[in-house]
Amino acid sequence: MARVWLTAPLTALLLFAFSSAVSSCPPSDLAALLAFKSAVRESNGGIFNSWTGTDCCRNWYGVSCDRNSRRVAEISLRAGPVYTTFEKPFRPGYMSGSISPEICKLTYLSSIIITDWQGISGEIPRCITSLSFLRIIDLTGNRISGTLPADIGRLQYLTLLSAADNVIAGEIPPSLTSVTGLMYLDLRNNQISGPIPQSLGRLQMLSRVLLSGNQISGPIPRSFCEIYRLVDLDLSNNRLLGPIPEALGRMKVLSTLKFDNNRLSGSIPASLLGSGISELNLSHNYLEGNIPDSFGGTSYFTLLDLSYNNLRGPIPKSMSSSSYVGFLDFSHNHLCGPIPSSYSDADASSFDYNDCLCGKPLKAC
Ligand SMILES: *[C@@H]1O[C@H](CO)[C@@H](O)[C@H](O)[C@H]1NC(C)=O
Repeated sequence: MARVWLTAPLTALLLFAFSSAVSSCPPSDLAALLAFKSAVRESNGGIFNSWTGTDCCRNWYGVSCDRNSRRVAEISLRAGPVYTTFEKPFRPGYMSGSISPEICKLTYLSSIIITDWQGISGEIPRCITSLSFLRIIDLTGNRISGTLPADIGRLQYLTLLSAADNVIAGEIPPSLTSVTGLMYLDLRNNQISGPIPQSLGRLQMLSRVLLSGNQISGPIPRSFCEIYRLVDLDLSNNRLLGPIPEALGRMKVLSTLKFDNNRLSGSIPASLLGSGISELNLSHNYLEGNIPDSFGGTSYFTLLDLSYNNLRGPIPKSMSSSSYVGFLDFSHNHLCGPIPSSYSDADASSFDYNDCLCGKPLKAC
């Protein structure tokens, strides 16, 4: 009896001591998160209601901590259907304000994901490059301006950099080519200008490079051909000049190549048409010469768009030996000659506006 009497308060005391030790996160992390919160405003009001109390590691929406160090490791705030779990029903998210440089005090941060809030503006804090454990930066779908930090190359562990659909200007920082673990680069639909760093091919882990919808100029770096894991290369809607590197057609896993709406010139490398590429859009450039007669059994195109160039000559015979051609557009060139019978079912618009193509689906030769 006496034992129980003694043990119960002792247990309670121990439990209290233990729980108070885990019920607060490091004061510096707490302060940094509160500073972050005070620099933004969310119109639905839902998500920051959970950011109360002193334990930012427990039930703070979008905040995760490292289990052992209990330091904040992740901020993940995506506007989207996830918010149906909050009191208010989901409405498309809108958040305004800016990203406070105070987040740079979260020295153990490995992910910053703040996506699709439309109204987050201001610059990416320069000091972000001091967060040496950062692996993921995803700021897609906001109104972020300014430039990418020049010393982004300091982020040795970065694997994903996405800032698509913002208003970021300036050049792609040359130091990016020292982020050797980068796998995913998405800067689509910004106002980035200047050339693509020539040595981007040093980034051997890259599998997706998406830079469309900017004002990028200069040539397509030959070094892309060295990125043997590259699956998806989208450079469309820019101001790229010069030829398409021949070696792109010899890349093992490349499957999507979008160079449409640039100022590329020269001829189409023969290697591209017999490669493993399945989506090829070269439309709206200044490409000239014949369409190479280099299709083969390995050619399998879900999309082949060569429209709006200066291509001449016939539709090559070898095209009939392709395994598959789905969407096809050769319109608005200077092609001439009979359309192979295997394409007589195609839409006339695939062949319209050439010099003298003939046969089904166009008029007889
Ligand atoms: C190819 O690119 C052009 C120009 O950007 C675009 O208009 C067209 O829709 C694209 N083709 C396909 C099939 O997506």
